[in-house]
Amino acid sequence: MDISDLISRLTLDEKITLLIGKDSWSTEPVPRLGIPSIRVSDGPHGLRYESRPVEGGPSYITEATCFPTSSALAATWDMDLIREIGAAMAEEAAGLGVDVILGPGTNIKRTPVCGRNFEYFSEDPFLAGECAAAYIAGVQDRGVGTSLKHFAANNQELGRTSVSVEVDERTLREIYLRPFEIAVRKSQPWTVMCSYNRLAGIYASENAFLLDRVLRHDFGFQGLVLSDWGAVHDRAKALTASLELEMPHGSGSFENLKAALANGEITEAEIDRAVASLLRLVEKAVEGRRRRPKASDRTAHRALARAAALQAVTLLKNDGSLLPLNPASVTSLAVIGRFAKDPMIQGGGSAFVTTKSIEGALETMQEHAVKAKIRLDYEPAYSSWAEAPGLEATHEAQLVAEKADCAVVFVGTGHRVESESFDRAGIRLNPDLERLILMTAAMNPRTVVVVQAGSAIDMSAWIDKVKAVVFAWFGGEAGGPAVADVLFGAANPCGKLAETFPLRLEDTPSFDTYPGDGNHTWYREGLFVGYRHYDSMGTGVLFPFGHGLSYTSFLYADLRVTPDAVGAPGSVTVACSVTNTGDRRGSEIVQVYVGESTPRVVRPTKELKGFVKIELDPGEKGEVRFALTPRDFAYWNASLAAWHVQSGTHRIFVGSSSRDIRLEAKIAVAQGPDFS
Ligand code: BGC
Repeated sequence: MDISDLISRLTLDEKITLLIGKDSWSTEPVPRLGIPSIRVSDGPHGLRYESRPVEGGPSYITEATCFPTSSALAATWDMDLIREIGAAMAEEAAGLGVDVILGPGTNIKRTPVCGRNFEYFSEDPFLAGECAAAYIAGVQDRGVGTSLKHFAANNQELGRTSVSVEVDERTLREIYLRPFEIAVRKSQPWTVMCSYNRLAGIYASENAFLLDRVLRHDFGFQGLVLSDWGAVHDRAKALTASLELEMPHGSGSFENLKAALANGEITEAEIDRAVASLLRLVEKAVEGRRRRPKASDRTAHRALARAAALQAVTLLKNDGSLLPLNPASVTSLAVIGRFAKDPMIQGGGSAFVTTKSIEGALETMQEHAVKAKIRLDYEPAYSSWAEAPGLEATHEAQLVAEKADCAVVFVGTGHRVESESFDRAGIRLNPDLERLILMTAAMNPRTVVVVQAGSAIDMSAWIDKVKAVVFAWFGGEAGGPAVADVLFGAANPCGKLAETFPLRLEDTPSFDTYPGDGNHTWYREGLFVGYRHYDSMGTGVLFPFGHGLSYTSFLYADLRVTPDAVGAPGSVTVACSVTNTGDRRGSEIVQVYVGESTPRVVRPTKELKGFVKIELDPGEKGEVRFALTPRDFAYWNASLAAWHVQSGTHRIFVGSSSRDIRLEAKIAVAQGPDFS
C-alpha cells in the first residue's frame, strides 16, 4: 500500500470519513481506491462478535470460547499460557473476519470495588504490564491486532465518563501508566483505546499529554489511537490530541472536523497524519489476513480454557491439609450451593462472552467421588443469582452438611455484581451467601469454601470458621472441572494473588478518596497502591499480594546477586535455587522485589521487579534467574522529568509472596545518567 500516494488521491471528505467509524464495529472503506473496511470486536477474555443480519433488526452475539477473565489469567503468572490464549483468540477472530480484538485491559486495580477489575490484571504495574504484553504478542503473532485499553487512569466505573482523575505525575508514571508502557515497549499493540475519564480536567480523548507526549513520544507507540465507544466529545480537539479514529460512528463529527478546518482550529496536515496512521492499520490488517490461521479448533480452545482455569485456581487457606480430599478420612461429601452446578464464569458488560459450553464443578466432582468411593450429596441451597440468591431448602443443606465428613460450599459474585459501568457496593459476599457458609460451618467442622469472583472478597465474617478456601476466580467456561481437579488432588494448585485481599474495604488505601466528589477523584494515596501500601505501613491483610498455597512445599536457598555493586547503567543478575520438598509435583511462582534501604524520596518498601514460575518433581531442585535493569532501581523524578537512580543501598527480596520473603540481599547502586 503506497500510503502517501493514497493520501494524495483521497478527497478531503473521504479522508474525514476515514477518521470516524462507519458503524459500531467497522471503519469506513473507500472502494474506489481499494481501501477496505476493517472490523473490530470485544475482548478481552473471549470474542463478543455482534452481528445484525437484517438492517434495523435485532443483533446476535456469536458463540465463542469463554476463557478465564484477566484477573484469573494474572493469577497464573504464566506468560506463555496467556500468550497461548491470545493465539487462540486470534484464531477465533480470524474465523469471524475480525481484524482487531478490543483488549487487553490493563488498568491498575486501585480499589477492589472497581466493577471492571475482573477485566484487569493486577494492582501491580509490572505484573499487569507483562500480562498485557504476553496477550498482545499471542494475538498479533497470528496476524490479528489488539487494542490496549483503557488509556489511562480509568480505575473506577462510577462516573467513568466524566470524572477527572487528579494524580501527581510521579504516581501516574510509576503506577498507572507503567503497565501500558511495558506492553507498548514489548509488544507494540496495533491500537490503543483511550479511556472515558478526564485526567487533570482534560478528557483522555483530547489529552495531548497522554496520547502524544507520553504514549507516542515517551513510550514509542507506533500504532493508532482509537476512542472508547462514545468517548469523543469534540472530534477536532481529539484530532489535535492525536486521536486518529473515533468509534463508533459519531453523528456530527464529520461536520465538526469540516468546521474546525475551515476556521483554522485544525490543519489538513493533521488530518493527513491521522489518515496515514489509519491506513497503516488497514495495511497491517490486510497483511494479517494473509497469515491468519485458516482453522479454529473450538475443542482445543476449550481444553486450553480448562488448563488456564486450573493454573489460576488459588488455594488461599488449607488448615490441617484438609485438601486435597483424602478418601481415607473423607467417605462422604456434601456439596452445597448452586454455583457448583451453574457457575459464575465471568463479569458483565462489553466483555461478556456468549458460550454454550459452561461446565460446573459438580459433574467432575461426581466422577472423582465415584473413583475414590466417596458418597457425594448436592444441595443447591440458593436460587440463582448471587446478588439476590434467596436461600432456599437450607434445612436440607444443613442436614446434608451435618452427616458428611466434609462440606464444600460454592459461593461467589457474578456478572450482575461485577460489571462494566458500575462499581461494587462493597467487597463482602451477599449476606445470604455469608449466612450459608456460616450455617454449613456450624454443621460441619471440615468446611471448604470455593469462591467464584473477579476481585478481592472480604471474608472476615466467616474465614475463621472454615478450614479451606479455594479461590476459583471467574474461571471461564471450563473453570468448574479445574476446581474439581484441585479439590480431589488430581491437580496441584499453583495460582497466586495478583491483588491483595484486604481484611476489610476500610483498610484499602483509596478508601477515603474513592469515588471523589462526583467531578474529581483524587489519588491521594499516591504510589501506595495495593501491597505498596500494606507492606510499607505494616497493615494486616487477609491474604497478601503473591499469596497462594500448594499441596507441596518449596525451599528457597543460595541467593546470589551479581555484581554486588553496580553503576546505574549496568544490569544485575539475581539467582537462587528452589527445591520441591514435598511429595507431589508442583509449580511455584518465585517473586523478586526491590526496595531502597534509606531513600531520600518517598518510596514503597518494596516493589515487584521479576517473577518466574517453575515446575518441579518431588525432591527436584531448580535454578531461577532474574535480570534487573537500571529502571528497576529508578523512580520518576518529576523535576528532572526523567527516571533517576539514587546512589545507595537497595534490598533485593526473593519470596513466595510479598509477605513471605525467603531470601534477602543488599546491593550498592551508584547514581547514573537519568533516562527517559
Ligand atoms: C468499553 C470498551 C469496549 C467498547 C466496545 C466500551 O463501553 O469501555 O472496553 O471495548 O465499549 O464494546
